[in-house]
Amino acid sequence: MPNDAKDANDAKNSKDTAAPPAGKRPAPPCTLVIFGAGGDLTRRLLMPALYNLSADGLLDDDMPIIGVNHGERETSEWRDELTASLRKFAADKASTFHTSKLNEDAWNRIAQKLEYFAGEFAEDETFARLGKRLAELKSRNVVFYLAVSARFFAPIAEHLGRAGLLKEENGGFRRLVIEKPFGNDLASAQALNRSILAYADESQVYRIDHFLGKDTVQSILAVRFANAMFEPVWRREFIDSVQITAAETIGVEGRGSFYEQTGAFRDMLPNHLFQLLGMVAMEPPNSFDAESVRDKKAEVFDAIQPLGPNDVVFGQYETGPAGPGYRDEPGVAKDSRIETYAAARVYVENWRWAGVPFYLRTGKRLTERRTEISVQLKAVPFRLFRDTPVDALTPNVYTLRIDPAHGTTFDFNVKVPGPVMQVGAVRSTFDYGDFFAERANVGYETLLYDCMLGDPTLFQRADSIETAWAAVDRVLHPEAELPVHGYAAGSAGPEEADRLLAEDGRAWRPLTDAKNKP
Ligand code: BG6
Repeated sequence: MPNDAKDANDAKNSKDTAAPPAGKRPAPPCTLVIFGAGGDLTRRLLMPALYNLSADGLLDDDMPIIGVNHGERETSEWRDELTASLRKFAADKASTFHTSKLNEDAWNRIAQKLEYFAGEFAEDETFARLGKRLAELKSRNVVFYLAVSARFFAPIAEHLGRAGLLKEENGGFRRLVIEKPFGNDLASAQALNRSILAYADESQVYRIDHFLGKDTVQSILAVRFANAMFEPVWRREFIDSVQITAAETIGVEGRGSFYEQTGAFRDMLPNHLFQLLGMVAMEPPNSFDAESVRDKKAEVFDAIQPLGPNDVVFGQYETGPAGPGYRDEPGVAKDSRIETYAAARVYVENWRWAGVPFYLRTGKRLTERRTEISVQLKAVPFRLFRDTPVDALTPNVYTLRIDPAHGTTFDFNVKVPGPVMQVGAVRSTFDYGDFFAERANVGYETLLYDCMLGDPTLFQRADSIETAWAAVDRVLHPEAELPVHGYAAGSAGPEEADRLLAEDGRAWRPLTDAKNKP
């Protein structure tokens, strides 16, 4: 983080009383009920996000936080554990929550509202007691956050519904926040939607895709629709192809048994990568009103040509420079055929995008961590520069960098200095940190705040979830088992993924590049 950005952050972290930033108002008073109080998500992301919102003055003073979990514990024990892990993350330079000074007041405002509530997630008795507690607290507005394993989503929604806790009364709201994975194919996603919508109205359901909580992802719409230069070329007439990459260096990080049920494709593609695709490909909405934005994104998912087995390549990391192979991870079968890498070719069949391939790839244990979207423009129409054939010109590529770099790059051609007219490729780079103080942000702040305000723009609607799964269902239930190709841990993925693009006369963008060189 550049020094001036860090100073601004530290200034925020040391101020005693919080006033919301200009133009922002605190969320309305509400009770937050977190199912999965003892889980990793609560500790690692929800509490740091609540802290950041508190430090920014964006939470109401009247916000009890009830943490539901199985197993008896004292509230003080839960509070101490959360305080300790918050301090640990704050001190960890590698953590997104890293800060040189924790604002104790901001954390105390949260800590004093914590209340541990022992209860099984699928027992009537839990919900009867919870109902009584909410009545004692006189909570009209309640957000139920399901930070639990997916198998509890439907049972918790059903129990909340049957106990009458999702009924909105006296102008209050009752909202249900559901984490990923939302189903693991079309049929299971439809069944989950049916179970939830039997007890809650769609307007009460906030399905999270944490990629949409990233500023760099939200900025895709700002870049596209707040600048005059992009939209005229943002179409099939000028764009050759789009590459969307979410490459990770980490392995499955102790989540072997979860991953054995999921795989890279289900974990990342129809959700996170499709969300990026939706932001890049959607038509301009008439306003930033939630339904206008969500309608336009839904149209993109609806226009995706269903993927077939020839449109995807699966890989699994084997022992390589970055360490042991996937099959050596704890909780993974020695003969596992689960993919840790997936690449796909996707076509959006509409007037704007017909014929333009969107290449998506994601994988664990790759050369570099890099989430980005590269939009490659078509070649210029004819050879003008002596000794520089058109196909030797570097194509214009506009890249939106999501993580860990935050910004954009544009690759274009200029004259090389000297007496002869020769063309050379250059890169123009924009980094967020050069212009804005980087904010302490773990990615859940906006999502939590929006949910409390009742703004569902950044959440998934039932129909979009289902159209996204429908687009990939043939790959998830193939007639013949799909091959899974090995790649060395620490490499750029399996060679077969290169062939997917080579068939179309294209190549993946390198995962590592020299600084500021196209
Ligand atoms: C999660 C996946 O949803 O997203 C993980 O389950 C993945 O496997 C993670 O590592 C990536 O998110 P981010 O924000 O770290 O890029």
